[in-house]
Amino acid sequence: VDPRDGNRSPLRVALLGLGTVGKAVAQQLLDTAWRSGVAARGITPPELVAVGVRDPDRPRGLELPSAVRRTDALDDLVVDDGIDVVVELIGGLQPAGSLVGRALESGRHVVTGNKALLACEGHVLESAAREAGTALRFEASVAGGVPVLAPIVNDLAGNRIDAIRGIVNGTTNHILSAMAEDGRDYEDVLSEAQERGYAEADPSGDVEAWDAAYKLAILARLGFGEWPEATSLRRAAPAVVADAPAGITGVRTRELERAASLGLSIKLVARAERGRDGCSRASIMPVAVRGTSPLGSTGGVTNLVEVIAEPVGRVAFRGPGAGGRATSSAVLADLLAIARGEGSTWGPLPPAPSVTIPDDLDEEHSWFFVATSLVGAHTPPRLSEIALAADDEAFVTRPMALAAIRERLAPVDPSITIYPLLAEA
Ligand SMILES: NC(=O)c1ccc[n+]([C@@H]2O[C@H](COP(=O)([O-])OP(=O)(O)OC[C@H]3O[C@@H](n4cnc5c(N)ncnc54)[C@H](OP(=O)(O)O)[C@@H]3O)[C@@H](O)[C@H]2O)c1
Repeated sequence: VDPRDGNRSPLRVALLGLGTVGKAVAQQLLDTAWRSGVAARGITPPELVAVGVRDPDRPRGLELPSAVRRTDALDDLVVDDGIDVVVELIGGLQPAGSLVGRALESGRHVVTGNKALLACEGHVLESAAREAGTALRFEASVAGGVPVLAPIVNDLAGNRIDAIRGIVNGTTNHILSAMAEDGRDYEDVLSEAQERGYAEADPSGDVEAWDAAYKLAILARLGFGEWPEATSLRRAAPAVVADAPAGITGVRTRELERAASLGLSIKLVARAERGRDGCSRASIMPVAVRGTSPLGSTGGVTNLVEVIAEPVGRVAFRGPGAGGRATSSAVLADLLAIARGEGSTWGPLPPAPSVTIPDDLDEEHSWFFVATSLVGAHTPPRLSEIALAADDEAFVTRPMALAAIRERLAPVDPSITIYPLLAEA
């Protein structure tokens, strides 16, 4: 078969959701120049035949040809005989979960960008797709427009993946970058981000690191062959007497400033590492990284995913992690992969069990912390003994276990938040 023949009849696409991403996908599918570009590469362009939304009559600034069916009966649409692929861009667990499940079980392929659904129900949906022999693709669910899932499965297939880590949430990276650059407080930057539409009215999914945890679960499934229980992934920075709030809500501007004075940045990093067989440790928490490292120098809403693998070493995927147009790139790529008969995002990988994965805080780390109650000259000997670097009240310690650093800091200030210092690969 000459691969340039491509598939002959177009895939008939039902698009669920016409929001930020859905609208951008529809625009491309209907765009004549996009369609001829696809055809020129030997693939029959997919055909948008139906859209499913809550209110089909609401104007959306998008001209849909009359041949494209509009409906609010999504349950019926996903099992319609005239549909080959369902593109789910509604988001959230329900009704998206049951719609995706019904589509897969009834023999339709599914493309989705729904990280929450995949992280929470991925192993069930994977089984459904495998049983029905349909494809489930989800490149858009991690790092928006940055191709990272398919390269992990396909292009890095000759490697043993040892670690995956990254900045996978643009909202929190924007907030931390603005706090570090302008010296403004978390609340101040967050409310400005909400006004400008970079952060949602309820920001908890981003700032408490749920979004990043979901993306890490998906990365871990493809890199390590296990679906981690997303709700069990550690989403907090360690504090001395109790756990600090999850995500970036407890990061103080003073800590960012003092980190910078020691050449460090504090970033919300999602990371997973390989154990003997599978993923052994994972966490999503603010960590200190060298300011000039790829992670440390990734600012604003940009995403960066690093894969550390043998024999390749360290490779990085960087780019726009959100936005309708950027994310539509990943959705469209998945549609074209299905048109080429490439199957699911997990490709030839075997089925993955669902597992609980601990964090790595019991390992020895260097730690970064700011003890505002201290002034250099009065540093207790217990702290100067363990300091690798210190600047006024900011410290980087020699590698030690969390319990050991907690024990040292408890008498100094029990409210201190301590950040693991992430070593370069
Ligand atoms: N935005 C990004 O940059 C980005 C990046 C990567 C991945 N994603 C993922 O892509 C998905 C879509 O995100 P988005 O930002 O495009 O969301 P969005 O702007 O909120 O749009 C959601 C769309 O789904 C429709 N919808 C919601 N509930 C529905 C229901 N019960 N029945 C029918 N339609 C319903 C909404 O309808 P109405 O228009 O009628 O309200 C809207 O058109 C999410 O899973 C998200 O995590 C988004």
